[in-house]
Parts: sequence; structure tokens; C-alpha cells
Amino acid sequence: MSNRKAYRGEILHFLDDPSGCVGSKAQDCYQHFDDGVLLIENGLVAKLGHYTDLASEIGDDTELVHYQNGLITPGFIDTHVHYPQIEMIASFGEQLLSWLERYTFPSEAQFSDYNYAKKIAEFFLSELQRNGTTTALVFATSHPESVEAFFDTALSRKLRMICGKVLMDRNAPQELLDTPQSGYQQSKALIEKWHGRGRLQYAVTPRFAPTSSDAQLATARRLIKEHPGVYLQTHLSENQQEIEWVQNLFPDSENYLDVYDKHQLLGRRSVFAHGVHLHDQECKRLGETGSSIAFCPSSNLFLGSGLFNLTQAREHGVNVGLGTDVGAGTSLSLLSTMCDAYKTQQLRGDPLPALSSFYLATLGGARSLDLENTIGNFSIGCEADFNFLDYQATELSRLRISRCNSLEERLFVLSIIGDDRTVGATHIMGERVNEQKKTVLENL
Ligand code: GUN
Ligand code: ZN
Repeated sequence: MSNRKAYRGEILHFLDDPSGCVGSKAQDCYQHFDDGVLLIENGLVAKLGHYTDLASEIGDDTELVHYQNGLITPGFIDTHVHYPQIEMIASFGEQLLSWLERYTFPSEAQFSDYNYAKKIAEFFLSELQRNGTTTALVFATSHPESVEAFFDTALSRKLRMICGKVLMDRNAPQELLDTPQSGYQQSKALIEKWHGRGRLQYAVTPRFAPTSSDAQLATARRLIKEHPGVYLQTHLSENQQEIEWVQNLFPDSENYLDVYDKHQLLGRRSVFAHGVHLHDQECKRLGETGSSIAFCPSSNLFLGSGLFNLTQAREHGVNVGLGTDVGAGTSLSLLSTMCDAYKTQQLRGDPLPALSSFYLATLGGARSLDLENTIGNFSIGCEADFNFLDYQATELSRLRISRCNSLEERLFVLSIIGDDRTVGATHIMGERVNEQKKTVLENL
């Protein structure tokens, strides 16, 4: 017996990036139904269309849910976040390098303890869910236990998640350091245990160039080569001091990206967080290798890193997704992150349309993860991870939305005043996962 469900309501999903298209052409990039229906069979999208066209196909064997005064969208995709940093979000006063030393490293040191890591992983994944984020590319810490705890939790919740053990063999406190050899062995064991299990995938995770020796970056390459299909995640050109440091540490490299390029770490499954200060040559290499950038506006504002040049990335055909980058980011909500994205682009003189923001948080994220045939849209056969965004989540939203005259206006309002409260329901493989209630953290 197949398990069939139908969700009726206003529905939006993207087929392509609307940013290159003007006026009516942008409409070729998305499908929008005022009164649509999403038919799901065994957790996958079976059909999408106007309710009037598909009503006759909804049989007695199909559970029908009607969502009103809101919008059904694919689940949000966070292309860069650190789960162990959830407990040190909102730490005062530093820019990147001193922020890492003063707050991040001490906090991450606790994750050698599996039980501690498990509690934080449970909390983090509940919070993601409440915020409508159904897939994320996640940094653990340098302890294999931190990855085990994360994957155990994600597997039991049937989530599509990507995570990896941080590789870091220098320039950090001793208790966080591995070696090229131990980092390789631990990553390999984790890949063999977890990559492809349920909906989980592994990302080889050198933290960033300053904390990995050449010898370690070479092992990252080896891991990717020996395990086709795994990801590579790291940081790139976030902060000026960091960039100068990289120049001093790697005098033979032409620029920051070239450190990774020389080790053959660029490619279709490589995601570089930030890229705030990229030269055209670096953007060009990212584009021609099919690499992706995680655009993390909230973090970039919080740490005073700078304003990401989205136009430059697009001009070079770089895949871009949105990242919260918690704990440098100030919220796990991709709606709040859209608001910060808009503000950063305003400061550059480039107002970001809401259609583009919603694209970045859904199909753009999926493309950044090479998963556009699996998540981030409602094409037939995609996994049915989706949200109901409630136009009436707050009185302010109810009032403001009532004054809107178009889809674009409503999306913009959601992206500017929306947050976790806006996410009325989250669904994983077609199943509603909670009532968006408060996440409870016990015994910590
Ligand atoms: N660069 C290296 N590590 C980190 C980190 O944990 N957060 C951010 N924002 N940048 C980094
Ligand atoms: Zn980060």
C-alpha cells in the first residue's frame, strides 16, 4: 500500500534563478499556484498543479490537508552552519580571528564528550526544524564524537543532512588539534559509516587554510578522491586580517582560493563559506569548477567582515546559497537571513528582490549542494520536505500582508519581518514533524 497525502493551498517553488530575468521572463523561473495542490506518495512529490485540475485525483485513500492564509514552499536549505556554536551565538565585540580564540574554540572543546554533543545536536536540529530548515551543510568539531552525535540524531529524524569532522592540525588550542594522519583516519571511518546512510552525506571539512598544514590539505584531497560523492566544506576570504594571514602562511599561492585550488579541492561538491573579499580571478575559478559559495549575510554583519558581492558571484556563474553561519550568524532563521541579505545588498546599492532571496534559500541552496534533483523544489520525484509559511503568524504580518497586492510584495514582507514564528508547519518526507512548539533543552 502506498502512503498518499495531498496538501492544498497557495504554493511556490522555483525552476531556475529569477535574478537574470527581468519582468515577465522571471515568471518562467518559478511556478506559483493561488490554489494549488501538492500530491505526495511515499514521501516524494507525485504531482503538483491547480487544485481544480487535480481534485478528482485525490481519492479516499489520500489524506488531504488544506493550508490557508499562507504559502507552501520547499524546505529551507542552510548551506553553512556550525551546530556546536549554537550555545555561543551572540558573543560580544570581536572580529573573526579573536572571536574564534575567545569564544569559539573554548566552546568547541566540549564536544569530545558524545553525550554532551548529543544534547546539543538534538537541540540544534529541533531549532532548525522550527525555523523551517530541512537540510543543512553542517560543521561539527574536530572530535569524531561530535559527528557521531549529529548523524545519530539526524538519522533518527529521517533528515537530509550533510556534516563533517573539522580538520585542524595547527594554530588552535591543543585539545582541538588533530594531525594529518589522525584527521584522515577519523574522517575515513566516519565516511564509511555514515555517507549514504538514510539521507545523510559526509563533508570533508578542513576548517580554513590557517588551521590546516599543506600536509593536511593533501589528505583532504585524498579523502575526496577515494570517496566520490562526498562534499568539501571550508571557509574562504571572510575577513581582511585572515586574508593577510593566509598570504603569509602560503607565500606561493596567488590568492586565498589558490591555496585550496593547488590542493585540487574545488569542484561541484565544494562549498566555500563567505567569499566576501574575492578577486575576479578567484570568482572565475569558482565558476569554472562548479564550486559554490555560502552567502552568510548575518554573520558578515555581526563580525564586521564586509558586504558579499552577489553580483560579482553571479557574473562568474558561481552557485550561491544562503548560510546562517551560526554562531557568528545571529539566527537560524533563513527568513531573518534573507532580511540581512537584503540589507547588505542595499549597502552595495543593489536591492535584492524577494524572489531572488526565496530562490537562494531553496533551489539555490539545492544547486549549491548538487542536490537540485532531490530537494529545494517540487519537481516530480523530489523529496517532499516543505514548509507552510503563515501570513498571519503575527498581528503585524497579518496587517502588512493584507495591504499587499502581489506575490512579490508578500514574499518581500515575509523576508523582512518573517522569522521562526512565520513557519507554521514543517514537513519531512511529507510528514508534519511538529507543532512548531518551543524547543526544550534538558539538563544543561
Ligand atoms: N573561519 C574559520 N572558522 C570559522 C568559524 O567557525 N566561523 C566563521 N564565521 N569563520 C570561520
Ligand atoms: Zn562558518
